[in-house]
Amino acid sequence: KVKAAVFASGTGSNFQAIIEQEIENKLACDIALLVCDKPGATVINIAEDYDIPTFVFNPKNYAAKKDYEQEVVKRLQIMNVKWIFLAGYMRIIGPDLLHVYENKIVNLHPSMLPAFPGKDAIGQAFEAGVKTTGVTVHYVDAGIDTGPIIEQKSVHVFPDDTKDTLQKRIQRVEHQLYPRVINQLIKQERGVFS
Ligand code: GAR
Repeated sequence: KVKAAVFASGTGSNFQAIIEQEIENKLACDIALLVCDKPGATVINIAEDYDIPTFVFNPKNYAAKKDYEQEVVKRLQIMNVKWIFLAGYMRIIGPDLLHVYENKIVNLHPSMLPAFPGKDAIGQAFEAGVKTTGVTVHYVDAGIDTGPIIEQKSVHVFPDDTKDTLQKRIQRVEHQLYPRVINQLIKQERGVFS
């Protein structure tokens, strides 16, 4: 199986959803590495529970983005990683990583892009009072949440929603959608269209 890395900064519920598919033999790639830019993040404990190797770094310990990105590239190449799936990775991907993994970095974003890019997309949608928001899976380019869209799924906002109930509904959709799109991308690359 082709090897992939997941990049995450926080809770890791999407990382867990991906790993659970792998355990059930339903994932087309092998998650070889978790990359995390937040020492102490819960996602690291999940990786340890499932015996997934981790590379955890603190950007503050590097002089510049290129310094930690070059280190990340080195770790990915040692493990023969071909795909990068961002799952709540709250950092912009710089040119040193982007150019090595051109069209191989995919992001999950909790809105119907181009609506509500950037931070706290769920809070932005909630405050705007929209009746529908959603989830987007897209390729990463140099912009913030601007790359070509691969797939989207809409999610209703109900009148009695709180930001919390909306977030839970969006995350349930993410947990289903992201592993499915990951499989679709990898099968397309192999030339198997399903
Ligand atoms: C997810 O909802 C993901 O869409 C979002 O962070 C959350 C991470 O949750 N990503 C972004 O906002 C990227 N701009 P998780 O750590 O439980 O998977």
